[in-house]
Amino acid sequence: MTDRSLAARVWSKKGARRAMIGAGAAGTVAAWWFTDSAPYPYSQRWLLDLPLPFLTLNRLDEVLQARPGERILEIGPGTGLQSLHVAPQLGSGGQLDIVDIQQEMLDHVTRRATEQGIGNIAATHADAHQLPFEDGSFDAAYLVTALGEIPEPAVTLAELRRVLKPTGRLVVGEFFDRHQIRASSLVGLAEGAGLRVTRLYGPPFAYYAVLRPFAVPVALPKQAGEPDAELSPVEA
Ligand SMILES: C[S@@+](CC[C@H](N)C(=O)[O-])C[C@H]1O[C@@H](n2cnc3c(N)ncnc32)[C@H](O)[C@@H]1O
Repeated sequence: MTDRSLAARVWSKKGARRAMIGAGAAGTVAAWWFTDSAPYPYSQRWLLDLPLPFLTLNRLDEVLQARPGERILEIGPGTGLQSLHVAPQLGSGGQLDIVDIQQEMLDHVTRRATEQGIGNIAATHADAHQLPFEDGSFDAAYLVTALGEIPEPAVTLAELRRVLKPTGRLVVGEFFDRHQIRASSLVGLAEGAGLRVTRLYGPPFAYYAVLRPFAVPVALPKQAGEPDAELSPVEA
């Protein structure tokens, strides 16, 4: 066999193998997209380590603006793609709390954090519908491709509003899959929870939204003879 025909055979074997791997990966992604169940299965965790277009870590930094010493909450960390990036920015005086409904995900992130020498992540096994934290505990919170997966996003947003400081900020990242909450729907859901979308980044299929708490006016009992008044939310 000549060198050239040997090279061609090796190449065609390699090419065939690459094509098979590519087709397998594409098939898995397609299967995930169509059968995408919630909560996201731990058995398919390897997909969570692939960076999503537009929902990049750099863009998360731009919108979240994490600072040393802050206490930040992440809901639905999965395998920790964002957690392991954000936690070091908070320094030893700060803390990243991660909450997930799947203990396996939390164990996975904790294991990776230990391997990487990151010591300021606190994991809590809980449901985002009922967060086990005091009111006003956090400087900021974020969820990336998680809010749409949670059955009652309005309840979750209200809980996030409760545990955020009044000056806090919330970042929601949503990607185009079966669970995506469109930006236009998020605006309405957020308003009902006392949060206002102040900025949107990225295209509609992969956006980050920044939300801020606003003060909801308290309706006082009406005095005799007082006319009806329209109440509207007031900026904090
Ligand atoms: C698609 S993964 C996103 C993981 C990670 N943020 C990322 O972008 O790679 C969604 C995560 O939300 C979690 N989750 C789903 N429903 C939840 C709930 N009700 N409360 C807390 N976490 C939940 C899942 O277990 C999973 O870890």
